[in-house]
Amino acid sequence: MKLISTLLILSFICSCQTDNSNSFDDILGSSSIDPNNPNLVKAYAVIEERCIDCHSGYHNSWSAYDTDEKWIASGNVTAGIIGDSPLIMRLKNRGSNMPLGGANLTEDEYNTLVTWIEGL
Ligand code: HEC
Repeated sequence: MKLISTLLILSFICSCQTDNSNSFDDILGSSSIDPNNPNLVKAYAVIEERCIDCHSGYHNSWSAYDTDEKWIASGNVTAGIIGDSPLIMRLKNRGSNMPLGGANLTEDEYNTLVTWIEGL
């Protein structure tokens, strides 16, 4: 049983990584994010790599949030206040449980999200 769950987790991790994208071009190519909003472009790169696989279901399409306004309207982000932004407060880095089943965000990834929200 343990072996099966380990294999499942491993195949999940591998399938996630084939979708990963580390270049802004890739991200911008598949979305309508404004390239003149570098903080959102960088934040979206983190979200796409660490969160979107789970948060793009029919009921919660984070991949459709291509402007700061849409993120704020979604309730996941409060402009300028990380302490009131579930996107930050739900992170393992802050003692909560996201990304579910995954590792803490790296310091860089975390700081990228914080910089974006504090600058809104
Ligand atoms: C392996 C799947 C998975 C990953 C990866 C993941 N989440 Fe989640 N997330 C969930 C599930 C399932 C829920 C609903 C249950 C809950 O709230 O714990 C949730 C809920 C949330 C919520 C509460 C609001 C909502 O949409 O339900 C926030 C905020 C959140 N996640 C943030 C993040 C962030 C930020 C990341 C990336 C750093 C992330 N999650 C990565 C599965 C995931």
